[in-house]
Amino acid sequence: MDYRIIEFPKIADPRGNLTFIQNSDQVPFEIKRVFWTYDVPGGETRGGHSYKYQEEIIIALSGSFDVVITQPDGSQEKFHMNRSYYGIYIPPMVWRHMENFSTNSFGLHLSSAAYAEEDYIRDFEVFKPSNS
Ligand code: TYD
Repeated sequence: MDYRIIEFPKIADPRGNLTFIQNSDQVPFEIKRVFWTYDVPGGETRGGHSYKYQEEIIIALSGSFDVVITQPDGSQEKFHMNRSYYGIYIPPMVWRHMENFSTNSFGLHLSSAAYAEEDYIRDFEVFKPSNS
């Protein structure tokens, strides 16, 4: 399964919109962990790494940022996340980072696994051969 944008249900309402996420209906894995980024200073970059096993979905719950996927050959694809009813699904062995954070952006990550440093590949030079 490749990385892709997932659109979540949006219940439009004059009183305010509502979006929900339900395991297996909208998320192709069991959610084991949730974390979020906030107070990211302008110009900062986060998350330059790939995971070996875990899957995740990243959502800009508030504000906006770019999720950038880098292929082993160095080519990049950029997803501008700016709606709380869109997420990007990222499978294992995909190199991603986040940049271009707006003021007060709030990035929600849904993950298929508990935090484990052993699951990270943090060196692009190590990632490259293991994925090409
Ligand atoms: P990390 O995932 O490395 O973020 P980035 O790639 O943007 O630097 O996380 C930063 C630090 O936070 C790292 O030292 C590990 C810690 N951390 C946890 O303890 N639990 C978690 O669930 C996450 C996501 C990070």
